[in-house]
Amino acid sequence: MVAENIGGRSEQRLRSDDWYGYGDGDGRDGYIHRAWMRRGYPEDAFDGKRPQIAIANTASDLTPCNMHLDEVMQSVKLGVASAGGIGLDLPVVSLGETLVKPTAMLWRNMAAMAMEEMFRANPIDGLVLLGGCDKTIPALLMAAASVGIPAVVVPGGPMMNGMYRGQRMGCGTGTWQLSEEVRAGTLSKEAFLASDRSMIRSKGHCNTMGTASTMAVMAEALGMTIPGVAGTPAPDARLLEASQATGRLIVDMVREGRTIGDVITRGSLLNAITAIAACGGSTNSVIHLMAIAGRLGIELTLDDFDEVGARVPLLVNLQPSGAFLMEDLYNAGGLLAVLAQVRDLLDPTPITVTGRPLVEYLDERPIWDGEVIASREAPLIPAATEDTAGAGIAVLRGNLAPNGAIIKPSAASPHLLQHRGKAIVFDSIEDFHARVDDPDLDVTPDSVLILRGCGPVGYPGMPEVANLPLPQKILAAGVRDMVRISDGRMSGTAYGTVVLHVAPEAAAGGTLALVQDGDEIVLDVPNRSIVLDVPDEELARRQPSAALVQGYATATRGWERLYIDHVQGADTGADLDFLLGASGGEVSRESH
Ligand code: FES
Ligand code: MG
Repeated sequence: MVAENIGGRSEQRLRSDDWYGYGDGDGRDGYIHRAWMRRGYPEDAFDGKRPQIAIANTASDLTPCNMHLDEVMQSVKLGVASAGGIGLDLPVVSLGETLVKPTAMLWRNMAAMAMEEMFRANPIDGLVLLGGCDKTIPALLMAAASVGIPAVVVPGGPMMNGMYRGQRMGCGTGTWQLSEEVRAGTLSKEAFLASDRSMIRSKGHCNTMGTASTMAVMAEALGMTIPGVAGTPAPDARLLEASQATGRLIVDMVREGRTIGDVITRGSLLNAITAIAACGGSTNSVIHLMAIAGRLGIELTLDDFDEVGARVPLLVNLQPSGAFLMEDLYNAGGLLAVLAQVRDLLDPTPITVTGRPLVEYLDERPIWDGEVIASREAPLIPAATEDTAGAGIAVLRGNLAPNGAIIKPSAASPHLLQHRGKAIVFDSIEDFHARVDDPDLDVTPDSVLILRGCGPVGYPGMPEVANLPLPQKILAAGVRDMVRISDGRMSGTAYGTVVLHVAPEAAAGGTLALVQDGDEIVLDVPNRSIVLDVPDEELARRQPSAALVQGYATATRGWERLYIDHVQGADTGADLDFLLGASGGEVSRESH
């Protein structure tokens, strides 16, 4: 509908009509396009009047968090049909966080590139984007943004609450906690291994405020879902209801010509930062939001996260920062109840996929459980002041991270937010595992553990390894947190005083490559600084470690080679340089 929207509905021309109505419909190419599609569809399915809706489906048995999306897809199809459109299942590259090696992040841009090309190459007027597990929603949004046609997200929803031995056990978070207890000798290995079926009980993505939940929050706050959908548990019938409603909505969006570029604006990106801060969302949101903005040509910097996030109190008491899980959040009123508390911090102008602004959905959104969602008057962590770090994502700078590094204060230990300690350097995660439990390791609770070579280029792919397990002798002493610094990422389900995304990364010649054992490091989160306390002249004399220089960027072919050659730093979203921006939806040449 976008190309020739000349007013009245009957005169609008669908994008898909470039395929099905080619040459006024009586030519050879139009014949071919229709003939192969018609099997079992009604006579008028491809007559140029019915919006063709691709349901971009990341269902895969090897992405267990998205396994159920075929069922969601069927509900979307019903909705599309009931509004007079044609819904078409389009399986796209899927990425599961738990299985793919070396890290799903290595493939986010590949998935986004493949999706973008298939969205553009096919006769599609609108898109419903089905995602769940961490990378799937960002990849779908990046792809859709670079094509620019109408699009709506249906987040696949979290799993049911995990419960083990009478306590909530959150996905990921519970694993980190219990495995540390085993290493500390306070839990048996058998009890740990028996917990898995209590943690993962149903279809759906991780039920903590990890990256998948954060991406659902992000999509809704961006205006890219039907308001109120984010956090609907995957097994909940209301998810299928919302999927049908989304199917109807996308047909309307096509008819009205409302595209993804009308919905995602700088204002809605800042609203997403506010929503994520209030929820205590994942640090990974920084990289994904910047990558989405980069596809739309909207400026969004690390400083935006700090400035916007600093004004926001933490209201949501979910693991890993707090106690509860996504099902509890949904039952307590959900994201809209959270956003109603911070309404004055939201930009009221950005519209959602429905055409109405997000803030219009925030009237009469009570909090049903004040333990799960705190009120603005009594937040879990207040907004930042001159002396306190606040709840959002803090951006640190200094000679150790001239382009920035991030930390999530709500997941850190307050007593470590201002800290000076001696560095213990690991050049790879393998180096770390080989030495961490060595009784001779010269480590104290005040030491600062450095893991480098884990940035986008260095690993490659920037894995979630930065939340290093603590050395056994530190755990045995009863200590459960230490300052850790890395150019890698950490899982959104993880916690601790961990400085992440250090940029430039060590493999790109960052100062991190020059740190030596025993160097003093000064972390000051309230003042947003991270300093390697070594004189400049001394740093100028140092050469990066040989292990680090030899250890990265060895791929000679394939995606990994392309990725290493073109990936950008974590501080700008880690997209490939040639994927920034958009190519639109036009395809000028015929295929036959
Ligand atoms: Fe898929 Fe956590 S592993 S969402
Ligand atoms: Mg399938």
